[in-house]
Amino acid sequence: MSEARSSGSASNPPLDPSQVDLRVTIGGVELPNPVFTASGAWGYGLEYLDLVDPARLGAVVTKTITVLPRKGNPQPRLRELPTGLLNSIGLENVGLGAFVRDKLPRLARHEVRTVVSLAGRREEEFAEMIGELSHHEGWVGVELNLSCPNVAEGGLDFGTDPRLVESITRRARAVLPDGKCLLVKLTPNNVPMATLARAAEAGGAHAISCINTVVGMEIDLDARRPVFPRGIAGYSGVGIKPIALAKVWEASHAVDIPVVGIGGIATVRDVLEFFVAGASAVQVGTALFARPDRAHRLIEELAAELAARGVRRPAELRAGD
Ligand SMILES: Cc1cc2nc3c(=O)[nH]c(=O)nc-3n(C[C@H](O)[C@H](O)[C@H](O)COP(=O)(O)O)c2cc1C
Repeated sequence: MSEARSSGSASNPPLDPSQVDLRVTIGGVELPNPVFTASGAWGYGLEYLDLVDPARLGAVVTKTITVLPRKGNPQPRLRELPTGLLNSIGLENVGLGAFVRDKLPRLARHEVRTVVSLAGRREEEFAEMIGELSHHEGWVGVELNLSCPNVAEGGLDFGTDPRLVESITRRARAVLPDGKCLLVKLTPNNVPMATLARAAEAGGAHAISCINTVVGMEIDLDARRPVFPRGIAGYSGVGIKPIALAKVWEASHAVDIPVVGIGGIATVRDVLEFFVAGASAVQVGTALFARPDRAHRLIEELAAELAARGVRRPAELRAGD
């Protein structure tokens, strides 16, 4: 990938890290840096307060919230592989009512830039949930999870039909309060990323989050059947990074809105590679299970790494066409 860089090459004289500008703007919301935690990998943003300050992150994307609480799928739900994770959590979450009552006020108190991940069973539900959120403080935006492969009723179908992606996004945008941002998270499975990204942009998304997990499976050879009761699961971690880079490249060439790169990001080099591929920001997921402070470390390393390469802003790294 490094050969593809159009600017900010190794020949640029190094800068002082204080000269690097990490700010990123999504739909009018200015974030101090482009490193977020990914949905489902860092709880509700409050679980690691003893360890790190969540307000230092560009944003925290919460576990996906549904209208009603969900217990999620039966065990096993998580399997570690040499190259990442397989998960079949099934959107276990506290539900919107408990979220706005118990979590949002605390997130507000800690000044976390919270992006609330939302999933609905019906097309209208996403907008209804934003309507409820709009009565509360403590969030900067929402991420529509139109891509979770673990929920049979709804999620997957929504996310693989470009017309539904567009109409759900349009309804959500129509009720989104001023000053909040709307991210739409897309699936890498089944449909070309460019098609889905264009649909989300047409519906008024401020950014594309790219990608959710890749459909995967593990086999129990002795039992001669899949390990997960549902058969398929969501594959994440270092093994999906090349897929995610290709999808970010595809999305960023298809739309004019920012693309938030997600998939297998664990090191600062990974972050830079996503910028080269066209991402304006990144989310860290699976890597947080091994080190919950990984995203914080990446923020620290990012300014130094860009400065060493003589790059003032991450956007300068983007490859030419
Ligand atoms: C255990 C687990 C739970 C997840 N839960 C959600 C979720 O609730 N909503 C969502 O949009 N993505 C969810 N994801 C997907 C991640 O946000 C991310 O898109 C994906 O794992 C790829 O990034 P990574 O390789 O850095 O983990 C989950 C991933 C994992 C591993």
